[in-house]
Amino acid sequence: MKMRIVALIFLVAFLGCSSPKQKETFSVEKARNTLDFAAVQYRNFVAAMPDTIEPRTFQGDTMVYAGIKWWTSGFYPGSLWYLYEHTGDDFFKKEADKRTRRLEPIQYVTNDHDVGFMLYCSYGNGLRLTGNQEYVDVMITGARSLATRYNPVVGSIRSWDHNRDKWDFPVIVDNMMNLELLIWAAEKSGDEFLRDLSIQHAYTTLENHYRSDYSSYHVVDYNPETGEINQKNTHQGFSDESAWARGQAWGLYGFAMMHRVTGEQEFLDHAIKIADFLLDHPRLPEDKIPYWDFDSPDIPNTYRDVSAASIISSALLDLSTMVEGSQSEKYFGAAETMLASLSSEPYLASEGENGNFILKHSVGHLPGNSEVDVPLTYADYYFLEALHRYIDLKEKI
Ligand code: GLY
Repeated sequence: MKMRIVALIFLVAFLGCSSPKQKETFSVEKARNTLDFAAVQYRNFVAAMPDTIEPRTFQGDTMVYAGIKWWTSGFYPGSLWYLYEHTGDDFFKKEADKRTRRLEPIQYVTNDHDVGFMLYCSYGNGLRLTGNQEYVDVMITGARSLATRYNPVVGSIRSWDHNRDKWDFPVIVDNMMNLELLIWAAEKSGDEFLRDLSIQHAYTTLENHYRSDYSSYHVVDYNPETGEINQKNTHQGFSDESAWARGQAWGLYGFAMMHRVTGEQEFLDHAIKIADFLLDHPRLPEDKIPYWDFDSPDIPNTYRDVSAASIISSALLDLSTMVEGSQSEKYFGAAETMLASLSSEPYLASEGENGNFILKHSVGHLPGNSEVDVPLTYADYYFLEALHRYIDLKEKI
């Protein structure tokens, strides 16, 4: 009898060890719990934030700030709007409104393309949730300022004015993200030019930024007089020919979004190709949080980029609504795995740590040795957006 019990204990122990490791699961309840945690974290964030500057990252044990003209200034107010949406608490509404209004001067910025990021994430979410018409004029003026950077010969909006010794008319794949503000402004104002230039910009990007495997170059530099391509290279990726993870994320999100807002079939077809490049990539880890560059020679001994994962997860949820059957399940399931990973160790912060940011382990600009393995405002923003999208989609089923 005693021998039998000992054998049974061994058998149970053996089965326990040899059964396949349970895959991280996710659910609406877990998404809500993560949003609850995010709200706690951001209450502390608000309490610690000076009124006169915007958060950028947290490095070592130091908070790093930026002025409103830094490209990320819209994400913190945007995150506060998502937390207002989740909690319904006026605390977040008041703070989001205050932080949004700080960006009013951005509507006049004409020397940089990131006006779309800055105003659509802040004012755009504020308008969506409150209907406050005071936000509308700022967004339309901002869209018109951004449109001044469009060159019809190139068929693109110029991204940067810096590094003029290196580039004549640089366009980065990230610029796809600025188009949502323009399409919204076209609809609101009736100015068809804003819509036309956005569609043209997306087609030019589709044509010139993408390789035959549907990975993207980071920077395409044009001759502004002839529209010819001078060079294709990188700024933040491992090499000119590599697939920088966040660039792939911006492209995926941008083309899915452009299909959603224009209905153009080619943008959907392209988003699908990008999604498949990413999800079928042999160097995408099992938890689906990408390394900072798919072609880093240091994989697996290099950094993940949580910001890329946040953006991709949100984009995949969007894309999953545009296709059907097993294709939709593929994109939804991959996003779900990403959200499960991001909602747990080692990516999710603990209360009070990480400068009160929600997510750890993003990479801003590794070749520039800047913002490496840190929290970033846009990782948090797209994570919150993805959690909302996930709950909305699950509750529709
Ligand atoms: N748009 C700049 C970046 O992704 O770092």
